[in-house]
Amino acid sequence: MKNIYIEEITVGQKIDSLFLIENPSIKSKTGGLFITCTISDRTGTRDCKIWGNRGSSEEEIERYYELIVEGNIYRIAGEVREYNGAMEIHVNSGIEFLAYTENENNLNIRDYIYSPVDPDETKKKLEKHISGIKDSGIRKIVREAIKTSDGFYEKPAAKKNHHAYYGGLAHHTLEVVEIAAGITDSLPGIDIDRDIVIAGALIHDIGKADTFEKSGISYKPCPAYSLIGHISPAIERISKFRTYTDEDAFYHLLHIIQSHHGTYGDVLPQSTEAWTVHHADNISAMLNEVSSTLKDIKEGEFGWCKPVNSNLYRFHKKRDSVTGRTIKPDDKSPAHNKEEPDDNKPNKGQSSLF
Ligand SMILES: [Fe+2]
Ligand SMILES: [Fe+2]
Repeated sequence: MKNIYIEEITVGQKIDSLFLIENPSIKSKTGGLFITCTISDRTGTRDCKIWGNRGSSEEEIERYYELIVEGNIYRIAGEVREYNGAMEIHVNSGIEFLAYTENENNLNIRDYIYSPVDPDETKKKLEKHISGIKDSGIRKIVREAIKTSDGFYEKPAAKKNHHAYYGGLAHHTLEVVEIAAGITDSLPGIDIDRDIVIAGALIHDIGKADTFEKSGISYKPCPAYSLIGHISPAIERISKFRTYTDEDAFYHLLHIIQSHHGTYGDVLPQSTEAWTVHHADNISAMLNEVSSTLKDIKEGEFGWCKPVNSNLYRFHKKRDSVTGRTIKPDDKSPAHNKEEPDDNKPNKGQSSLF
């Protein structure tokens, strides 16, 4: 029975409702094992920690972990707590409900799929950008690459981090295309090939579609997601269309894919077009992370944003309609900067977001 949605839950509340489980993982801590996962419905997602009963053995936790099928709907009974500025669900005795999934036939599946955007709208906009590519050979490469990438419009852009939701890959791609077009159009004095920029932005992450597979009503990463990443599958896919354009344009597109991670990657961008796509990608990924972290921070407080290795401050946005001055709920100065936990401190070896 669905009696509460993610957007309605508050810290301290006890919940007992149906949610989709994704990203299950087993972790160890002094005192034993526990399961982490994300739970979601159409209104959002939250982290969830499943500890089991006091005295639950490691074997018992492992057994429940084995029973969880990613992308299925489960009854989650637990308590909402706050950790590091974000809400998360803690499950103790409710672990017993993870022994079986809910029958999807009795449920409205759409209630359990989270996407902050309309995937049909994203698709329409992307198709318009593809049609806008003037060079017919380049246009054909992009069109074929997307057409042959199974689930491109439905799959997420990541397991966690930016655009990790239904339709996230296409939504991130649309943002990168539009930011890259904006950069190109704002710099008329700089020689940037618009067709190459738009095409490069459209296919820069196309390899991600090959790294997710259907699981239940959702998508989960295949081993390739961690083993080879998304650059080589993209190069492999685009290479099938070598004959559609000339050598220069073809290798330029491959170079944009290869270098789009910028300083985080193996090859630095070596053209104005490749730098444009890299920066557009960075803006889309970073701001998505920053904005979703800020949603969990109260006005006038700081919170740690692990993916960008930085503290964030939630400014007061309300203004007095007469004086134009910022309205604060009280006159106290902002809450003291929270010290980030040791395991979240900046890590020089941090990998790319993109
Ligand atoms: Fe990207
Ligand atoms: Fe990428």
